[in-house]
Amino acid sequence: MEIICSPGVMAAWADKVRREGRTICLVPTMGFFHAGHLALMRRAGEVADEVVVSLFVNPMQFGVGEDLARYPRAFERDTELAGATGVAVLFAPTPEDVYPEGFRTTVSVSGLTETLCGLSRPGHFDGVTTVVAKLFHMVKPHLAVFGAKDFQQLAVIRKMVADLNWDVNIIGHPIVREKDGLAMSSRNTYLSAAEREKALCLSRSLQLARERVAAGEKDAARLRGEIRQYITSNGDVDVDYVAIVDAETLASCDEISDGSLLALAVKIGRTRLIDNTLLAGA
Ligand code: PAF
Repeated sequence: MEIICSPGVMAAWADKVRREGRTICLVPTMGFFHAGHLALMRRAGEVADEVVVSLFVNPMQFGVGEDLARYPRAFERDTELAGATGVAVLFAPTPEDVYPEGFRTTVSVSGLTETLCGLSRPGHFDGVTTVVAKLFHMVKPHLAVFGAKDFQQLAVIRKMVADLNWDVNIIGHPIVREKDGLAMSSRNTYLSAAEREKALCLSRSLQLARERVAAGEKDAARLRGEIRQYITSNGDVDVDYVAIVDAETLASCDEISDGSLLALAVKIGRTRLIDNTLLAGA
C-alpha cells in the first residue's frame, strides 16, 4: 500500500489510474479504524479496481468545545489495518494541505443540514461537505463509500453530489455493530465500562421500535415518546433527539411508512453517540 500525503501526488496517481481505464473507490475516514471502517474498505474493493482511503481529522467539522484535540489517532495501526485490507493508497494530507493560508470557500447544502445533528452541531455539515468536495477533487473517485450510521451525512452528501452533477456514485454501507448491538464508532473508545453498558440502550431501543412497528404501530409521535422514555429510564443519559424522518428527505414523519427511519443522538457521559434504523421498507 502506498501512503500519499501531498494532494498533487494524489491527483497525479488518480489521473494515471483513470488513463489506464481502471476505477477508483474512495473511503473517506478520520482514522482510528475499527471493523466498521474495514467493512467499508472491503465493500470499496468489491466495486472498484483501486481503493483509496483518506485519513484526515477534519478541523472544519468540529465545533467549539467538541473533541478535535482528543479525537483518537493511531496512524501506524491504521496503516497496517488498511494495508491488510487490500487498500491501494492511504491518503493522509495535513490540515495545511487541505486548508492552506487564505482558504475561503465553503460548500453548504441547505435544508438537510439545519435539523437533527445540525441543530446541536451548527456548521458541522458545512465542514463535512467542504472536505468531502475537496477529497473528491483530489482523489477523483468513480465511487465513494459512506457508513449509514451517519445517515444525515449520507443524505447530505448524496444531495451535494446530485445538486452539483458530480459523477461519483455514492454507496451507503449498513451499520456495523459489536456482538452486543452497539454501533461501531471511533468515539466508543471514550466510554468507561459503565458508560458502554449504558450505551446499549441506543441499539436496544431501535430493536424495541422495530418490534412495535412489526406489531402494527404507525403513530410516529407515540413511538418517539415510548423510545425516549425507554432511553431515559437507563438513568443518567442526555437525549439530544429521538426523531422519525424520511430517510432521503429527512422530513419528520407523522405516520410510519416505507422509508421511515428512527434516528437517535444521545449523550452518555461526555460522549455523544448516534444510531438509527429503518422502521419500514428496509
Ligand atoms: O464520517 C466521517 O468520518 C467524516 O465525517 C468524513 C466523511 C471522513 C469527513 O471528514
